[in-house]
Amino acid sequence: MIRDLVMKNRSYRRFYQEVAIELETLRELVDLARLSASATNRQPLKYILACDPQKNALIFPHLSWAGALKDWPGPSEGERPSAYIIILGDTEISQAFGCDHGIAAQSILLGATDRGLGGCMLGAVQRDELSKALGIPPRYEILLVLSLGKPKEKVVLETVGPNGDFNYWRDSDSVHHVPKRPLDDIIIG
Ligand SMILES: Cc1cc2nc3c(=O)[nH]c(=O)nc-3n(C[C@H](O)[C@H](O)[C@H](O)COP(=O)(O)O)c2cc1C
Repeated sequence: MIRDLVMKNRSYRRFYQEVAIELETLRELVDLARLSASATNRQPLKYILACDPQKNALIFPHLSWAGALKDWPGPSEGERPSAYIIILGDTEISQAFGCDHGIAAQSILLGATDRGLGGCMLGAVQRDELSKALGIPPRYEILLVLSLGKPKEKVVLETVGPNGDFNYWRDSDSVHHVPKRPLDDIIIG
């Protein structure tokens, strides 16, 4: 079960934009993050939810998609995410957020996958511009943006070959290929 969920939980970057995601669904996904591990249990993360076209349109221009796909500028109108969860660090609670946002992001994306949705973590974010666009107070640091939607693309995993190339790529049918290093290469002792 858990292996199937992890396998299915890929980074999806093209969506059926017309398939809306309810605010309550986003709240349930953040609840999974709330219940996840946090260093010293300090729980410094806060969240901004977006699931309406107007708010989504404020977020999208400040994201960078699939840096390895040089000739692809990101999802076109109609294939964009129908929701976002922005993970913030509250600097009045902590100055260092460690792994907390990665753990939160994974909980949220596993929950989304479990509901037949999908998404992508985005760390390449124009933080100052996005803060300004959403009027985020300076005490909150943008850590990650999670895009969410009903996936419109096929993603397949493959194994990194002897040449060591780990770059993901897209074939002529727009299938997205993601090489993963072999297990024996990453367990070193
Ligand atoms: C911390 C982090 C930041 C990421 N930032 C971006 C990003 O800014 N844009 C993007 O398109 N993908 C981003 N990704 C997605 C990775 O490219 C993706 O995880 C990788 O290609 C492997 O694909 P997979 O998630 O399907 O295994 C990020 C992933 C992580 C973990």
